[in-house]
Amino acid sequence: MISIRDVSKNFDGNRSYAVTNLSLEVAKNETLVLLGASGCGKTTTLKLINRLVPLTSGRILVDGRDIYQQDLLELRRSIGYVFQDIGLFPHMSVLDNAAVVPRLLGWNRARRSTRAQQLLQLVGLNPSQYANRRPRELSGGQQQRVGIARALASDPKYLLMDEPFGALDAVTRDQLQGELIRIKQTLGKTIVFVTHDLFEAIRLGDRIAVMNQGKLEQVGTKDELLNHPATPFVKELFNHATRQAALLQPGVSA
Ligand SMILES: Nc1ncnc2c1ncn2[C@@H]1O[C@H](COP(=O)(O)OP(=O)(O)OP(=O)(O)O)[C@@H](O)[C@H]1O
Ligand SMILES: [Mg+2]
Repeated sequence: MISIRDVSKNFDGNRSYAVTNLSLEVAKNETLVLLGASGCGKTTTLKLINRLVPLTSGRILVDGRDIYQQDLLELRRSIGYVFQDIGLFPHMSVLDNAAVVPRLLGWNRARRSTRAQQLLQLVGLNPSQYANRRPRELSGGQQQRVGIARALASDPKYLLMDEPFGALDAVTRDQLQGELIRIKQTLGKTIVFVTHDLFEAIRLGDRIAVMNQGKLEQVGTKDELLNHPATPFVKELFNHATRQAALLQPGVSA
């Protein structure tokens, strides 16, 4: 379980806050989606959880323990991270990219290789075809799969995923969303997933936390947000999506 308690973050000495008084709980085996527009503080929130960004105030507990009371390497090992820009190492093979964390943990070559091949298979990349390629020899969707394999490498309890499918075409995105659901069912992870796409949030999230300008507008299931929007912002978000979806009806035009 991840517990975010009254957390704030500013980068510029109190002038402006990227995250303000944020409180959220992520239950075991839950997928919590952080949903909001560009600049609302989604990435910052993820980075606060694994200490890539230091807190300004408040507390974050992982497994009931304050993250600043935990050994950093242990904490990071328990939390897989999929970066917004993927961030594969261009000079390393796909296999070595997937095995970065096991290497940091000091696993020997044979064990690393076995684990990386297993993970590539899991994310739908046949190791005999892809293991020796460089990232530039992969499509965007395939690179994203390697990013997910890398995050899963040490079998972390938690996964933080920062807009992992943001740059993909609709069909590939749909396919990877389906695979993430399958992976989660197989491995049983607790996931914080960032997106700015309401439909992606609805498909993947057990609950959705709507953020706006660093603040939490509302957190709840799709039905709770749809039927009982707590703020005008949440209401408009769903109204907007309803108008978009209506464009799919025959004879309806913008
Ligand atoms: N290292 C930093 N130094 C200064 N300001 C920062 C830093 N990182 C983020 N910010 C600011 O904090 C705010 C939130 O940024 P953040 O990256 O969390 O947004 P986001 O919701 O992930 O946006 P996007 O959807 O565009 O990725 C922005 O105003 C951003 O400019
Ligand atoms: Mg971001």
